[in-house]
Amino acid sequence: MNQITISRPDDWHLHLRDGAAMRDVLPHTAARFARAIVMPNLRPPVTTTALALAYRERILAALPAGSRFEPLMTLYLTDNTPPAEIARARESRVVHAVKYYPAGATTNSDSGVTDLAKCRAVLEVMEKHGMPLLLHGEVTDADIDIFDRERVFIERTLAPLVERFQGLKVVMEHITTREAAEFVTAAPPRVAATLTPQHLLLSRNALFTGGVRPHNYCLPILKREVHRAALVAAATSGNPKFFLGTDSAPHARHTKENDCGCAGMFSAHAGIELYAEVFAAAGAIDRLEGFASHHGADFYALPRNTEKITLVRESWAVPPSVPFGADTLVPMRAGDFVHWRIAGA
Ligand code: NCD
Ligand code: ZN
Ligand code: ZN
Repeated sequence: MNQITISRPDDWHLHLRDGAAMRDVLPHTAARFARAIVMPNLRPPVTTTALALAYRERILAALPAGSRFEPLMTLYLTDNTPPAEIARARESRVVHAVKYYPAGATTNSDSGVTDLAKCRAVLEVMEKHGMPLLLHGEVTDADIDIFDRERVFIERTLAPLVERFQGLKVVMEHITTREAAEFVTAAPPRVAATLTPQHLLLSRNALFTGGVRPHNYCLPILKREVHRAALVAAATSGNPKFFLGTDSAPHARHTKENDCGCAGMFSAHAGIELYAEVFAAAGAIDRLEGFASHHGADFYALPRNTEKITLVRESWAVPPSVPFGADTLVPMRAGDFVHWRIAGA
């Protein structure tokens, strides 16, 4: 099949940043996706409904004229988030989830949770309001090998959390391991996962092809090929627990090509096209629509999009860099080809 028409997709995990940088990256997403769950790891983080409402206004103001893109906001969970904030978030109707970053796990996670036990009351209120908890699922212990941090998180944090809060909706974000795919598959329907294009397309070899490749560095870090294969199997299985979340995470070029380079890959410029490659290669292009356009909306209890887009199997060259505020950034596949494109775009 060289062409497919699907309902317009949504991105259930996206970093838009703020200010001039946001104005440069937002059009890439708005050209493809109807909605996106917008991550709250700004500096300072989006910890309250009031901050989320203000951030949403800045996003709407930065949209290209005529765009109907809808940002779905999230709150950044801290040790001190008051339970009353959850009720405010629910009433706002624009905050759709709460994000859990283990303190120190990833970009701008310094204010993250140090101990989930401190959040018990908040989690109970979230459970009551049907507010999903989105998790960056990695332990931060220095003695745990970086390639094992997700697996150990499942054992130590996620499994007990799902058990303790029997009504809590949980999304394990950007899963990277066979163990995560297995855990989510076996869990109750209120537990789901997002998958990124890089973890579906690249194994950890891509970090070291001919030398160190900082633009393929993201967290959780790319894993072995057996994990990538398990993630492709999960994404293309048709199981509604698995849905699209690019984790497109823009960083200026010089902050990644650095003594201590930032984690995050930018993929919004090909945010649906890269998944079409994955599904076509797996012989499952007919399951792309469920993964990209239905499962996430159903999980979040939002209406499915009615507008359609058509994807065609045609190669196009990704530029070596794209504007990013006062800087530039290096997008995924820079200087190389993407093999699907959106018709009419
Ligand atoms: C993300 C970022 O840059 O904000 N980076 C990443 O490597 N994925 C943060 C995150 O999603 O963990
Ligand atoms: Zn993360
Ligand atoms: Zn992310």
